[in-house]
Amino acid sequence: MAKQLSQREMDYPDKLLEYLNGFRFSKVIFSACELGVFDLLLTSQEPLSAQQVAQELSASADGMERLMDTLVGLQILDVETTNATALYSNTDLASRYLAKGSPRSLWNMIIYFSQSLYPLWSGLGDTVRAGKNQNEKNFGIPTEDVFHAIFRTEEEMVKFLGLMDSTWAMDGLHIVRAFDLSCFQKVVDVGGCTGALAREVAKAYPSSSVTVFDLPQTVEMVQKHFARDDTVMFQPGDFFTDDIPPADLYILARIIHDWPEEKGLKLLKKIYDTCKTGGGVLLVEALLLENRRGPVLAQVFSLNMMIQTEGRERHPSDYIQMLNKVGFLNVQVSRTEKTYDAILALK
Ligand SMILES: C[S@@+](CC[C@H](N)C(=O)[O-])C[C@H]1O[C@@H](n2cnc3c(N)ncnc32)[C@H](O)[C@@H]1O
Repeated sequence: MAKQLSQREMDYPDKLLEYLNGFRFSKVIFSACELGVFDLLLTSQEPLSAQQVAQELSASADGMERLMDTLVGLQILDVETTNATALYSNTDLASRYLAKGSPRSLWNMIIYFSQSLYPLWSGLGDTVRAGKNQNEKNFGIPTEDVFHAIFRTEEEMVKFLGLMDSTWAMDGLHIVRAFDLSCFQKVVDVGGCTGALAREVAKAYPSSSVTVFDLPQTVEMVQKHFARDDTVMFQPGDFFTDDIPPADLYILARIIHDWPEEKGLKLLKKIYDTCKTGGGVLLVEALLLENRRGPVLAQVFSLNMMIQTEGRERHPSDYIQMLNKVGFLNVQVSRTEKTYDAILALK
């Protein structure tokens, strides 16, 4: 049953108004990131006036003052008024997550949201009407050629890889702790992208060897733009057409959700056939609630999957059914209460 509204909520729809203005709040944060506001306040060592920030960042003083005041309203910046001058500084949240150089920075995520997803989401109505991505109309790329559209230019590809990369500094720990994976010696992260999650696995289980298996063009771009250390190995290949390297544990993080059921089953069957007996597969996805009531972020992601891919977010029961269908047993679901959840299944 839906929650009954209180008289107060009936008289004034605060929550609804906040949702309706959500796109403006997002764009305020995106623009401040793109203009470099949080980086400047982080490095300045002292609070700055809107005029000083505007001058440093080649912006108008009036525009910058309104932008920074809105960020104060959003509790992302702090302000103190001294001798009639408003002086702004980062909150801890801004320094930790919004400044570009911070190890936990969401900067890459924000850039992808602002420059790639924001324009695509303006066509949500068309996508819902058609029931499929609009890649043909938008980019002249066939609906099913999903990664050709996402990787349509080197710039788009690097932004997407940055988005993928930025998740795991925040969520990786919750995933690697969801199950005890210490019995798996050889781990392959299928479609492991920049290796951000693979590195968290290698850190948590130092006696395991971890390999990222991803498309040759992805591995090439990762090595060109995201090269870091050699804690994980990279092996190029196509998981639909090439052999997948042997392993005890296969990680599939945000992979099955990219594809319609038949392609997801094809990939899971291939992994089942390659997997050693006693080995397993770890699915990492945003799980929908069985009763359809949330989590709202997973529901939004499912719309995003329709906008960008041929896939969808699924309920635990959908994944359990798919895993059982290809032969995996002992399926365990771990809800992390964060954005991404984990499902472990054994052969
Ligand atoms: C949505 S991203 C997920 C990346 C990573 N697992 C994560 O969660 O951060 C999908 C990944 O699958 C890779 N990919 C797509 N099609 C592939 C294929 N046919 N073979 C191998 N990798 C593929 C992409 O290059 C990309 O790195």
